Amino acid sequence: MMNLTVRDTLLQKATDLKIIPTLNGIINKVFHILGNKNSSFNDLCDVVQYDQAISSKIISIANSAYYSRGVEIFHLQRAMLTIGFEEIKGIVTCLLFMDNILKKLKLKEEDLFGLWEHSIKVACAAKILSERMLIEDPQKIYTVSLLHDIGKIVFYLGVENYGALVREAERNRQDISVLEKQSFGIDHQEAGYIISIKWKFPDYFGHVIRRHHEKGYAGAYAPLVNIVNAADQFLLFPENVNTSEGLILQKEKNGITREMEKIMNFLQLV
Ligand SMILES: [Fe+2]
Ligand SMILES: [Fe+2]
Repeated sequence: MMNLTVRDTLLQKATDLKIIPTLNGIINKVFHILGNKNSSFNDLCDVVQYDQAISSKIISIANSAYYSRGVEIFHLQRAMLTIGFEEIKGIVTCLLFMDNILKKLKLKEEDLFGLWEHSIKVACAAKILSERMLIEDPQKIYTVSLLHDIGKIVFYLGVENYGALVREAERNRQDISVLEKQSFGIDHQEAGYIISIKWKFPDYFGHVIRRHHEKGYAGAYAPLVNIVNAADQFLLFPENVNTSEGLILQKEKNGITREMEKIMNFLQLV
């Protein structure tokens, strides 16, 4: 009975979620760009591509009926071009303002950083896999991978000490989505899927978000889901390398680390 109540609360939170918090380091960088009249569209794109919060909202807005005209938009840059630079600046300013309010709620910066770091690593790894295996568009894979764990935000906001549960699962080599289902009757895949529907993400985003913990998934958008699953599993359990995707990623491990360092330096997060 208790599980049902927690599940209902988390389902409600996923349905009601309006924005996702942004790391303070990224906020500073974005403010700097917005405050500089010589900043260009590309300057803003360069930062936004590393941020789940702003990327997800821009993808969501670009896919709204007003902008999309029925065509799914999954490239972040394309989404930004569709909306327009001045509009984007307004949206970002508004998001940063709301972010300030959200931060006053429950989320710890250290938890947000953990989620962000994991998501970027999965995005870099999945993009490399896509390039090496010639499966799907690498940029498309990058954006969806950045958002694959978006449902975890609902747990960070709705469950006391969720960050500790995530760290414990990692230490014990357990699948967090199984633990979530056992403890709360819902996992971050389901919560994320609700967000993807509410925010009108492209259809395949919803499939990746909903199924990325499913090994050997064979349903719709299977190549995409399986690449994100392979990248995610490799980063969570690098010792379990026994698939061709895992072997490719093991070879590319230094490349992923270097890319990560480059991003951290660029965003001044080191
Ligand atoms: Fe996940
Ligand atoms: Fe993940």
